[in-house]
Amino acid sequence: MASAPVLVTRRLPEEAIARLTASCEVTLWQEERPMPRARLLADSAGKAAIITLLSDRVDDELLEAAGAGLRIVANYAVGVDNVDLAACSRRAVMVANTPDVLTEATADMAWALVMAAARRVAEGDRVLRAGSAWVWGPEMMLGREVYGKTLGIVGFGRIGRAVARRAGGFGMRVLAAERSGGAAGAGGAAGTGGAAGTGGAGGEVEWLPLDDLLAASDFVSLHVNLSDETRHLLDRERLARMRPTAVLVNTSRGPVVDEAALAEALSAGRLFAAGLDVFEAEPHVHPDLLSHPRVVLTPHLGSATVDTRRAMGILAVDNVLEALAGRRPPALVNEDAFRRPKA
Ligand code: DGY
Repeated sequence: MASAPVLVTRRLPEEAIARLTASCEVTLWQEERPMPRARLLADSAGKAAIITLLSDRVDDELLEAAGAGLRIVANYAVGVDNVDLAACSRRAVMVANTPDVLTEATADMAWALVMAAARRVAEGDRVLRAGSAWVWGPEMMLGREVYGKTLGIVGFGRIGRAVARRAGGFGMRVLAAERSGGAAGAGGAAGTGGAAGTGGAGGEVEWLPLDDLLAASDFVSLHVNLSDETRHLLDRERLARMRPTAVLVNTSRGPVVDEAALAEALSAGRLFAAGLDVFEAEPHVHPDLLSHPRVVLTPHLGSATVDTRRAMGILAVDNVLEALAGRRPPALVNEDAFRRPKA
């Protein structure tokens, strides 16, 4: 393993890089923008490991460019929708991610958006910064009550459950979407279907089919992985099932929501507000969402705390070091690649 060549496609927290450079020969992309594709392909050549970001596409082309010595792709994210898992498994290239360490930070972010969208926090901030005249009034900028309302969680995996736990403090009824044909629960969800239970969320959770959940919820928070089944899971039809007083929050992946349909629903008053941390074509944001006053926007900040990003860096590096030592990486995604000998 000594001085194995490793590519890191963006600067990671200091401690993580120090840990990696102690035993590997590291090529580090220093710029604050994704590696241009051609450079990514060129710099991958001959590497034993690559630490990728969610903006790096890992596919046959990249694996081919890296060559037969590549043992692991360690994604600096829990989501691996940027990685062609089947292509990696075919070549016995392990794929690892960064689960658990970002659960609480991402759940906090979902709640930040719930509160900001319900109580028009960003809109109020803009009014003051614009220097607009205002005076306190009984009907000024009324929002939606959060306490005691119903929260629908789509994707009851680790992050969905952490969001549900926080709802206890707000006296909320919590609904979780049942897996229907694998779609709604496709987030590592623990959907048992039907019966009420805690689902590890610390309080009572009711399981409902997705369409019923959408109709019954005052707040809907999305926590599914992005896959063929969940792309546009919230399409025009499903958005139309939501209450006109409801708030939609997305901290999962942008393409889970049809943004054009969402913008239409908001403009037509068929939805009260939205809180969005992720977008269909990041970093681009749909212009009608940008201009809508009751859409709260953040630039994919779900896991963006000092502690969490540091922990993600350490886990990504540990994934690499373990794989290069011939051991099972702690957050291995494709078990079959570990078992299959390299050709
Ligand atoms: C992830 O981990 O998948 C997030 O989107 C970035 O932290």
